[in-house]
Amino acid sequence: AHASLVEVLKGKFSVGSEVVVKGWVRTRRDSKAGISFIALHDGSCFDTLQAVVPNNLDNYENEVLKLTTGCSVAITGEVVESPAKGQDFELNATAVEVMGWVEDPDTYPMAAKRHTIEYLREHAHLRPRTNVMGAVTRVRSCLSQAIHRFFHEQGYNWIATPIITASDCEGAGEMFRVSTLDMENLPRTDKGTVDYDKDFFGKEAFLTVSGQLNAETYACAMSKVYTFGPTFRAENSNTSRHLAEFWMVEPEVAFADLDDAAKLAEDMLKYVFKAVLAERADDLAFFDQRISKGTIERLQKLADADFVQIDYTDAIEILEKCGKKFEYPVSWGIDMSSEHERYLAEEHFDAPVIVKNYPKDIKAFYMRLNDDGKTVAAMDVLAPGIGEIIGGAQREERLDVLDARIAEMEDQDPADYSWYRDLRRYGTVPHAGFGLGFERLVAYVTGMGNVRDVIAFPRSPRNAEY
Ligand code: 4AD
Ligand code: MG
Repeated sequence: AHASLVEVLKGKFSVGSEVVVKGWVRTRRDSKAGISFIALHDGSCFDTLQAVVPNNLDNYENEVLKLTTGCSVAITGEVVESPAKGQDFELNATAVEVMGWVEDPDTYPMAAKRHTIEYLREHAHLRPRTNVMGAVTRVRSCLSQAIHRFFHEQGYNWIATPIITASDCEGAGEMFRVSTLDMENLPRTDKGTVDYDKDFFGKEAFLTVSGQLNAETYACAMSKVYTFGPTFRAENSNTSRHLAEFWMVEPEVAFADLDDAAKLAEDMLKYVFKAVLAERADDLAFFDQRISKGTIERLQKLADADFVQIDYTDAIEILEKCGKKFEYPVSWGIDMSSEHERYLAEEHFDAPVIVKNYPKDIKAFYMRLNDDGKTVAAMDVLAPGIGEIIGGAQREERLDVLDARIAEMEDQDPADYSWYRDLRRYGTVPHAGFGLGFERLVAYVTGMGNVRDVIAFPRSPRNAEY
């Protein structure tokens, strides 16, 4: 079996042992003395492994000297201490087997030079070969593992909520239709228009915008559950914070209120910040130097800092009194825009801020009505540099109040919520939860400015390739 590069670089093999490594050529450099230096990457760590290739190999002239960025190779060699700075070990190659040539090096899209992030996005299938996307991929994976570990250690069950659903959790009408209709032979209504209500084997169905409602059913039986999966929003927003397909982490907890949800959000975020600091120091050092200065210090500060908690009403007052001219005017009742959110988290508090108790009219029907009759037990976690990364709430567990909220919504049929109402009819309990936008978390941790660059194949109004 071959060794991964991280194993060699971290000293798993003693000096003098023979190993085989496999990967892709990042660069080749030839010295006058008749040796070549090949920097190899295989995704296992940020650093490349240097292989020193002597000119006495059989295929030196014919093959080694023709290797270009992107070629795949298997290199056999002896592990030696590296005289070069920044790496402890390198390989003295005794054989280089070329596995795959780059057909046309001049047009290889990932040539070893700096590319713009927009350019990389247009080559999403090859961009993981770059430093930056390799680092993003490892950090993303580390963060998802840490999230699963956090909930597992706290006794949560991970549940799979459906991708195809009939319910619009957020009530925002941003659902993608799922259709099995025969386009040649569309069903018609009495009026002759296409009957899209018959979309999915005769019923209506959509891609889910959130697993929350389904997670609630399991919380009201298993007490502590979470979902972590893809969610979809058909909103036509071309911003650095919105994707048409994104991943959401949604814990849901029975016998819990808004404060419990806020504490859970803070504990979870701190846990994952610590995990990524401990496990991906190499990648974070790169982000710190090349993508966003101060990344590591910022994460360290966040891992220890107390999050600020503030009522929506007080947050609005801060925004009104701060004297700053915002693009969107501030008054009680507005749905804060990202400039408002960022002002609070970045300029005013310089810390993550949990805003609680929002006006009911700007929030979803399932949020618990407060005693003032005007606000609901909602919370958003705002992070400096990005704005909202988490949205959550205590859920309305009182059937009569819930029914009144459903009745207030336009074009909603309470019958569609019968299963959701049942949770309030049979052994209802206070419960709460939240949704973390996973790409926003990864963008935040890495300092990458755009959620499109922290998911392998971004889906947005302008991009649904592959
Ligand atoms: O605030 P949202 O819409 O809340 C919900 O969906 C709740 N049902 C969650 C719950 O309580 N279980 O979305 C939650 C988070 C946002 O805070 C944001 O981070 C992210 O999901 N998000 C998006 N991320 C990327 N692209 C989009 N289009 C997003 N829409 C929301
Ligand atoms: Mg929200």
